[in-house]
Amino acid sequence: MNLILLGAPGAGKGTQGKNLSERYRIPQISTGDILRANVRSKTPLGLKAKEFMDKGALVPDSIVVGMVSDRIREEDAEKGFILDGFPRNINQAEVLEATLVGLGKGIDRVIGMEVERKELVRRLSGRRVCRQCAENYHVIFSPPMNIGTCDKCGSEIYQRDDDKEETIEARLAVYEKETLPLVDYYSKKSLYSPVDGIGTVDQITGNIVGAIEGRSNT
Ligand code: AP5
Ligand code: MG
Repeated sequence: MNLILLGAPGAGKGTQGKNLSERYRIPQISTGDILRANVRSKTPLGLKAKEFMDKGALVPDSIVVGMVSDRIREEDAEKGFILDGFPRNINQAEVLEATLVGLGKGIDRVIGMEVERKELVRRLSGRRVCRQCAENYHVIFSPPMNIGTCDKCGSEIYQRDDDKEETIEARLAVYEKETLPLVDYYSKKSLYSPVDGIGTVDQITGNIVGAIEGRSNT
């Protein structure tokens, strides 16, 4: 099964992608995570991407598209994959489609995670991430047992540079302008399923599984 998780910054793509990856035993491919790994290890790609990420802008398609195209050809993605944070504009969607056609594949479903703006800001401004294992926390909704330390691996947790107030606003504006048109794009292809992204993490996973397996959302 080839799945796209579409949603604004903070909609829960990363959180849900992890659950779905375990449930369906297919890899979660997060362009944000791949880019951040490159920034951390200071690769040329990472150094270039960082300028854009720090502003809340999209990294150029020329960088991101090749990255995804390589990743979906890897062996673990043969039976399927969950794209988290890609595509993010119409051009990326068109290139993805052409790449998949070339591989004799296609997208099976696009899950649109719907969360209101106020809640997005609340989630993003309180998010904390482990530097080592990338586990996600939230200062109010899911704090670590010991402040500043990851429950899973004991490493330091930090605030993403792009989770500062001004950058959050920029990211939301970019989402509305560049990414939101994909709702229409995938609706016209009858691939789009909107899902209520408010509730507990497990409830939302249930909503998504319902949409994938053709059950009612309620
Ligand atoms: P990326 O890393 O993809 O960030 P994003 O789209 O802004 O989304 P987030 O990761 O912030 O949110 P999410 O939807 O994953 O939510 P999460 O589960 O973490 O991209 C970062 C940057 O990289 C971009 O700005 C761009 O520069 C670049 N980039 C990436 N892809 C690109 C592309 N294709 N093209 C060009 N540039 C690209 O949840 C958020 C918080 O909420 C967490 O704290 C979590 O614990 C909490 N939370 C989750 N679910 C719930 C719930 N149900 N209730 C309460 N809290 C919850
Ligand atoms: Mg994410």
